[in-house]
Amino acid sequence: MIGDAAAARAFAAEHAHYTEDLAMWTAAATACGGPVLDLGSASGRVALALARAGVEVWALDADAFMLTELAQAAADAGADVAARVRTVPGDMRDFSLTTRFPLVLATMNTLQVLLDPHDHAECLRCVRSHLADGGEFWFDVTLPDIGDVVDQMGLVRAGHEHVDEATGERWIHSSWYEGYDAATQTASYALRVDHVAGDGTSRPAVRHHDVHLFAPAELTHLLARSGLRVLQSWGGFAGEALEDGAAHQVYRCGVAS
Ligand SMILES: C[S@@+](CC[C@H](N)C(=O)[O-])C[C@H]1O[C@@H](n2cnc3c(N)ncnc32)[C@H](O)[C@@H]1O
Repeated sequence: MIGDAAAARAFAAEHAHYTEDLAMWTAAATACGGPVLDLGSASGRVALALARAGVEVWALDADAFMLTELAQAAADAGADVAARVRTVPGDMRDFSLTTRFPLVLATMNTLQVLLDPHDHAECLRCVRSHLADGGEFWFDVTLPDIGDVVDQMGLVRAGHEHVDEATGERWIHSSWYEGYDAATQTASYALRVDHVAGDGTSRPAVRHHDVHLFAPAELTHLLARSGLRVLQSWGGFAGEALEDGAAHQVYRCGVAS
């Protein structure tokens, strides 16, 4: 257990607006038919979308509170959806499941929470050993621009803004970098959500994170070292080119021959 129930609920609510990647994951999942292994599933933003689309999902996360949140959301979505979601407490650097999967996913920058090169390699080794014949590993991470990270250190960047259905509050997201260690490619940043009530009073929630910034060439090497190879890559979820200025690195990988 690495979090708490309130943090898991907050994660689910604060990321519910982020849907731009779901069509890509859902298309990949329905094409393979499942079951799909969703690594670092958190509270099930992706797992629930896949289960709603009729695909069986195994949702693996180290945070038991995230998985409890997911199980509750799946139950709320109905018996059919709940029956397709299996929660798996586990460490994505070291897991051993009985099933082999036609599709493994690690979405919304999940691999970046692993900070150490050894952990990256261990995670990809586990991915490789859980792929069925012809199976694929799809994931996304950010495409970093280190110059921008350094230039924007401490600057507050405005983010998404929406009205939370449950509370009627306006939620205003912002973020800023707090540090960058060039030796390890670790960036520290803060995410702030201001919860603004109808009467104008505001309650801030600030969370601090450390993430690894992956260079594209680094990923190619890591994948190859783990027995995987890139089949396709994109700079976004609508098939944008992976080039300077792209927001994301999105990879579709297969087993290296
Ligand atoms: C960026 S969030 C995942 C977001 C989710 N994949 C999505 O698309 O909404 C990262 C998740 O990884 C989990 N996590 C962190 N370290 C982990 C580990 N070693 N093994 C498994 N899960 C881990 C965290 O609990 C968190 O839920």
